[in-house]
Amino acid sequence: MKSQRAKFSLPKSSVYLNCAYMSPLMKRVEKAGLKGMRQKRNPVNVTHEDFFRDTNDLRREFARLINVKDHQRVVVIPSASYGLSTAAQNITLSKGDTVVLIHEQFPSNVYPWRRLTAESGATLKMVEPPDTLENRGKTWNERLLDAIRPGTRVVALGNVHWADGTRFDLVEVGKRAREVGAKLIIDGTQSIGALPFDAKAIQPDAVICAGYKWLMGPYSIGLAYYGEAFDHGVPLEENWINRLGSEDFAGLVKYRDEYQPGALRFEVGEHSNFILVPMMLEALRQVNEWDPKHIQGYCHSVTREGIPILRRYGYWIEEESWRGQHLFGIRFPKGADPVKIRDRVKQKAISVSFRGDFMRVSPHVYNSPAEFMKLVKVLIATP
Ligand SMILES: Cc1ncc(COP(=O)(O)O)c(C=O)c1O
Repeated sequence: MKSQRAKFSLPKSSVYLNCAYMSPLMKRVEKAGLKGMRQKRNPVNVTHEDFFRDTNDLRREFARLINVKDHQRVVVIPSASYGLSTAAQNITLSKGDTVVLIHEQFPSNVYPWRRLTAESGATLKMVEPPDTLENRGKTWNERLLDAIRPGTRVVALGNVHWADGTRFDLVEVGKRAREVGAKLIIDGTQSIGALPFDAKAIQPDAVICAGYKWLMGPYSIGLAYYGEAFDHGVPLEENWINRLGSEDFAGLVKYRDEYQPGALRFEVGEHSNFILVPMMLEALRQVNEWDPKHIQGYCHSVTREGIPILRRYGYWIEEESWRGQHLFGIRFPKGADPVKIRDRVKQKAISVSFRGDFMRVSPHVYNSPAEFMKLVKVLIATP
């Protein structure tokens, strides 16, 4: 893949290595949003079909991206927290059960489990990384598999750690979860779109994904997949459009008890959002055209030369087999002054994030090796 920078409106004067914070908007996505906005100048332009068509296309694109056959198992959500709360509120736990999470994972995938375990008397177990940096990712994965034991009812985690990029082997985690009868709930927000995700191989019960990072969409829209375990679940809200036959606007007050098929009962009210849905759809079409495996390859080409230099200067970065190419943490050498480094990086107009003990770097298809080298030069020049 070649640089895709021309598809974005990023300024030349700064370096954006921070897609894990928020993706920049593609020109075609911006155009779709403006078109959606203009449509409502005259509401006659908004037809009944418009309430359903784009959302359905969007479900198909996401189903394709995560390798799910039935697109009616995919729903539009407003945030990852909404999708994760939907999952948690449809799981019943008892005293003695355990929910397994990863140490310091993103709060949207912690609070719903904190509530569920507190209310049921179940235990919340957060699997910590080892103290040492040697074989950190590998050992952390081993600890995770070991923590999934009889009595574990839920395993909820991301494919990569949001702060340092450690990759968790979801195929193995899925196998182990099925062995003990635990549900597997994935927060794909920091990986899906940039890292290949195969629902057929992983067999998750739910996959939740905010749209504004690696799906390259706008803010306040995301997508979620719910498997058969949630088929008789109760949605967070009761909205008319999720009821069977809602396409017949004249018959809406013939109230129905049945929901739309698959997982559509969980879709957010006003899911037809005429601005955000077309934007998200354009973004996903492009992501699917690129293909996450090529995005990984491109991100690798951006950082391939710079990472060995950083390592020579005492910076620590996880081995390739235990991290994504699109998101990784850089741990500072002993004695380095993090505040000074942060200031210098900012001064040079380089955008990265600082999360916990790590500088989080997250390139994408608009970055170049030269841009990453700019960051490398700042780091090796700052004592
Ligand atoms: C792993 C992860 N999940 C979810 C989110 C966003 O969650 P929400 O959509 O609930 O705001 C983030 C944002 O940084 C994240 O890193």
